Amino acid sequence: MSIIKIFDTTLRDGEQAPGCSMNLKEKLEVARCLERLRVDVIEAGFAISSPGDFESVSTIAREVKECTVASLARATEKDIDCAWEAVKHAADPRIHLFLATSPVHMQYKLRMSPQQVLEQVEYMTAYAKKYVSNVEFSAEDATRSDADFLCKVVERAIRAGATVINIPDTVGYTTPAEMQHLISMLIGCVPGADKVEFSVHCHNDLGMAVANSLGGVMGGARQIECTINGLGERAGNTSMEEVVMAMRTRPDLYAGIGTRIDTTQISRASKTVYNLIGQPVPLNKPIVGRNAFLHESGIHQHGVLANKKTYEILTPEAIGIATNNIVLGKHSGKHAFEERLQDLGYNLSKEELQSCFEEFKDLCDKKKTVTDADIMAIVRHLAVADEVENGYALDWFAVHASNFTTATCTVCLLKEDVKYEDVSLGDGPIDAAFNAIDRIIKPVEHSFDLYRIESVSSGKDTLGEVHIKLSANGRSFSGRGLSTDIIEASILAYIGACNKLGAWVERREKAALAAKTETKEA
Ligand code: KIV
Ligand code: ZN
Repeated sequence: MSIIKIFDTTLRDGEQAPGCSMNLKEKLEVARCLERLRVDVIEAGFAISSPGDFESVSTIAREVKECTVASLARATEKDIDCAWEAVKHAADPRIHLFLATSPVHMQYKLRMSPQQVLEQVEYMTAYAKKYVSNVEFSAEDATRSDADFLCKVVERAIRAGATVINIPDTVGYTTPAEMQHLISMLIGCVPGADKVEFSVHCHNDLGMAVANSLGGVMGGARQIECTINGLGERAGNTSMEEVVMAMRTRPDLYAGIGTRIDTTQISRASKTVYNLIGQPVPLNKPIVGRNAFLHESGIHQHGVLANKKTYEILTPEAIGIATNNIVLGKHSGKHAFEERLQDLGYNLSKEELQSCFEEFKDLCDKKKTVTDADIMAIVRHLAVADEVENGYALDWFAVHASNFTTATCTVCLLKEDVKYEDVSLGDGPIDAAFNAIDRIIKPVEHSFDLYRIESVSSGKDTLGEVHIKLSANGRSFSGRGLSTDIIEASILAYIGACNKLGAWVERREKAALAAKTETKEA
């Protein structure tokens, strides 16, 4: 079996997309998901782009043991030095450097001649190679580059020691047949091509990223760069779940080819990423959209009841959606609960299990049946619960709302054992609650970018999941809340986001004060 390596760039290209930024804890959570999925390479970030990115790449490099960890770098010494500093403690570190090779990029962005680009590729690849044997070179905008020039670039990179040659379709311009042809041409024409691995990195501007990646595989590529849920700049990158399941579902076409991915982790990974960044997955998105396995029309339902294979080419179980619904309720013990968690693919520590079990028992008092979706939501919220130290917590709230009076909400928050209570009017109970919280917390000026509420399962007593995003100074602060009461879920999410905003303001003020003191002392 020929293995197609899965190079996941959710934490770099995915995170680069507007509204998709994550903090260190969130990135680590995604990295753990990727390790469980058994991806081959995690591109953990672009180390030189910010101190935060550097910290997350180096933390992930230390924590992740089962995957190669890469950092992106432009083809400059400074970038490569920084990328190496960040990944050097990884079990298998990789430096991924790139330089554009298309006429438009060379002339207008780089202001370099083709000759200078050739020299830079060779020099910088060799420079990276001094640090580590695992070096990937990407020819940015390769699909709009002159084919003969691209061959020369690839030859120089191979000569200088690159072990992986990545061919990006940076602007999502190519087609599957073109990508197949380009990769097989490079493998056939470039001296030394048989000694390296070819990779494809496709963007989805024309909706063909997955198809183009598969075209690349047909041409001989043995690494696919992709993201969970297809996140990424503009229309996104190749979606990992789609490209992996396409190869798995058509062994007749992809004979002798496979990935190492544990597909039963796909649903969980998709939900975790969605839950962390709040970027919605379209209902009809292949594989992980909510409707991906729903059959609505009578003809389809009839067919599926007679034989699933009539309209289903893959099963929900294959991507880890458990269909075994043993009902758990208030009489279920910890042991049954733990077994259910294991069936769902979770291996929690003793403490995590205890907290989840307590939440589960609370939920059983409010809800007749607790479904797998509810249990997964509980675990998800526990995993990403990033309470700010000494932040505000909800003590209680009371609302009065009707369709003929202005809504009022009284909120009592706790902070370091002190209670703060206030009341406010609002345009509906949630607005009133947020206004009351604002009166207590007094958050700095910010914009309210996102308020999303979703039901975790079906039924009147379903859990409501709320996701809120605020932003200030170009930074995004998210909060999540989970409760059978949507006002409570909204309050919890809003307090979470305000706490993060407040902690950031505090850090910024401390840093400014320290800088002032330093200047005075100097
Ligand atoms: O799209 C692109 O060209 C990239 C490279 C930096 C690999 O993301
Ligand atoms: Zn890209």
